Amino acid sequence: MKRVDDFRLKFGKQELVPIMIGGMGVDISTAELALEAARLGGVGHISDAMLPTVSDRRYDTDFVKTKLQQFKYNIDNSNKSEVKFDLGHIAESTRLHVSKTMEAKRGSGAIFINCMEKLTMNAPKETLKVRLWEAMSAGIDGITLAAGLHLGSFGLIEDHPRFRDVKLGIIVSSLRALQLFLRKNARTNRLPDYIVVEGPLAGGHLGFGLDDWMKYDLRTITNEIHQYLRDEKLDIPVIPAGGIFTGSDATAFLEEGAAAVQVATRFTVASECGLPAEVQQEYFKASENDIEVNTTSPTGYPMRMLKNSPSIGSGIRPGCESYGYLLDANGHCDYIDSYNREVALHPGEKKIAVFDKTCLCTHMRNFKCWTCGHLTYRLKDTTRKAADGKYQILSAEHIFKDYQFSTDNKVALPD
Ligand SMILES: Cc1cc2nc3c(=O)[nH]c(=O)nc-3n(C[C@H](O)[C@H](O)[C@H](O)COP(=O)(O)O)c2cc1C
Repeated sequence: MKRVDDFRLKFGKQELVPIMIGGMGVDISTAELALEAARLGGVGHISDAMLPTVSDRRYDTDFVKTKLQQFKYNIDNSNKSEVKFDLGHIAESTRLHVSKTMEAKRGSGAIFINCMEKLTMNAPKETLKVRLWEAMSAGIDGITLAAGLHLGSFGLIEDHPRFRDVKLGIIVSSLRALQLFLRKNARTNRLPDYIVVEGPLAGGHLGFGLDDWMKYDLRTITNEIHQYLRDEKLDIPVIPAGGIFTGSDATAFLEEGAAAVQVATRFTVASECGLPAEVQQEYFKASENDIEVNTTSPTGYPMRMLKNSPSIGSGIRPGCESYGYLLDANGHCDYIDSYNREVALHPGEKKIAVFDKTCLCTHMRNFKCWTCGHLTYRLKDTTRKAADGKYQILSAEHIFKDYQFSTDNKVALPD
């Protein structure tokens, strides 16, 4: 009987264990988690979401404080068009996070960065270019373009000296999205090095509608993409993601022609993961009914999360002067409208509730939006429960090796 370790992800001459830990912002897929994946011969992702605040926490910089001081005057103004990022700060925080992570890399694996186009940062093109460019300059092995269609992203970095050396991949949830991307990018004469196909059971934002995600399935979409690539004689590794919970699930995809699998939910309860320990217990405790897909994210994409996420219903003041990662090119974010509507409806009230949208920057930064994959309710079956009712946190190595070596749909429990 085959297992994941019987396969290898090949990039030219480089051979990797075909397990990719997906990017999880904001600093949920930490450098420590990515470094473990690389040490064990696979691929780990850091995330480029909100790197100035991540850098403040990790490397003692003060980018957020500086930005807040600069724009404090605007806090009560619902027009945020003046709240711009300092491109130098974005560059410096990216450089710091990527270079420090790459310096610590051991083993034969690779470290990629997950880059979400939907972080429009009140200047979508300029900020995205700096993020991609600096990650490449700081030595990242690969970039996974996520959350958005990224139709112009290759063009932003085609003059970078490492443009043909850094692995560049995209995440798509349909064949149509892939075709669109390939058509728009033909001009750069550079194909993606891998395609992550993300199905409807994934964590984070979904590339499906709120009411129809359950009608799709990862296997069907992956097969359509395999067929298309065969027809077009394109040899690009395909990496399915979303709901691949056991080594056997992964092996089945590899036997059907996948080059690797991308997984995330199992690693949300690893000690190297950025989620605080008490939040990890919420993930363990969740039952299927405790997980929902909703539209509280101001990005416009449906998002999966635990129903008891503190972000849901929270009516905090928009944090754009400190963060502002979701401000579009006109300095607008849907949460600002929802917040102002509730303030107007409840004059004089100190604490208001906002249910339709959430201040995603602040809540992701503070680990208060508990986004998760659909199969989070199975995490409790991957560990042991102590007498005090707490579930045992796992090591990333344990989870990684379970994917790599297990058979028969088994999940190895920790010692
Ligand atoms: C907590 C969490 C946060 C995530 N954040 C991101 C993200 O920032 N960007 C992204 O492209 N995907 C994100 N994802 C999706 C994963 O990278 C991955 O593709 C997917 O969850 C794999 O499915 P699985 O969780 O069922 O293994 C996130 C997933 C989880 C569980």
